[in-house]
Amino acid sequence: MTETILAALERYYDTVPRVGGARGEDFGALTLFVQEGEGWQYYARPALGGSDATAADVLEVLERQRELKVPEAFEWVAETSPSLRAAVEAAGLHVHAHPLMVLDAAAEPLPPHPEVRLLGADDPLLRAAVTVPALAFSAPGTALGEAGPAELAAALEDPDTEARRARVSGMLTDGRTGLAAAVRDGVVLCSGQYNPVGDVAEIVGVGTLPAARRRGLALAVTAALVARARERGARTVFLSAGDEDVARIYGRAGFRRVATALIAEPPATAA
Ligand SMILES: CC(C)(COP(=O)(O)OP(=O)(O)OC[C@H]1O[C@@H](n2cnc3c(N)ncnc32)[C@H](O)[C@@H]1OP(=O)(O)O)[C@@H](O)C(=O)NCCC(=O)NCCS
Repeated sequence: MTETILAALERYYDTVPRVGGARGEDFGALTLFVQEGEGWQYYARPALGGSDATAADVLEVLERQRELKVPEAFEWVAETSPSLRAAVEAAGLHVHAHPLMVLDAAAEPLPPHPEVRLLGADDPLLRAAVTVPALAFSAPGTALGEAGPAELAAALEDPDTEARRARVSGMLTDGRTGLAAAVRDGVVLCSGQYNPVGDVAEIVGVGTLPAARRRGLALAVTAALVARARERGARTVFLSAGDEDVARIYGRAGFRRVATALIAEPPATAA
């Protein structure tokens, strides 16, 4: 069963960059996804059905990433491509591991939360909703913190937030994403998205303003995303949790760890 799920995830990972506007450059055992438009910058990953990549394959892709000035990033599933980690490390990259979790098909839906709703393409709160995760991810971990509505209002002054809003609005219009937010007194406190491809959907970018943490908002937003994804035909709903603390929250929403997602990037350079 896990093998079938992992095969479905491989197909998803190979498709989602292409529908997101990237072209796949073929490097034999690896595929490098290169964004052709304004969207998200992608990574290289094992070619679908390809052979084991060697350190030489990784170096070849790295050279191309440097040439294109795109992130020197690789992403894959440890259990599906077990030899890639050593090849990537031999090329000098640093590897982070994240629990890869799939929604238990028998999971009972959680009751809706009164402050959580889905946002459409024209929702006036969409700009705030796409900005909250950026503030959340700059305060990693699950602890309460200082940044709250005032910091969100300040971040919204940045004109780049409009480009992000417009991109997500387009994706909402053409059904490539769904977005849920927790809103109190007209302020977005937590948001997240799901990205469907066929009958598989990934939950991404769930973040809560540091000052609004530890009141159940991320759990409620995740539950709303799951409900919507299922309603829209997703049979496999999955996500990568940042770490074990975050995985515990998703466990309450019915997700179970099935594998390990690995992300490689250049080691941090000393300032
Ligand atoms: C991870 C993150 C999204 C969690 O957001 P959150 O809204 O605080 O999540 P929840 O409130 O649902 O759960 C957090 C904790 O608060 C607890 N909690 C929930 N409601 C509570 C309440 N009313 N009273 C006390 N504690 C409560 C939960 O049980 C959980 O506890 P645990 O850490 O012991 O498991 C947030 O910390 C964040 O944005 N972090 C940075 C970005 C990130 O890592 N995102 C995840 C990407 S995979």
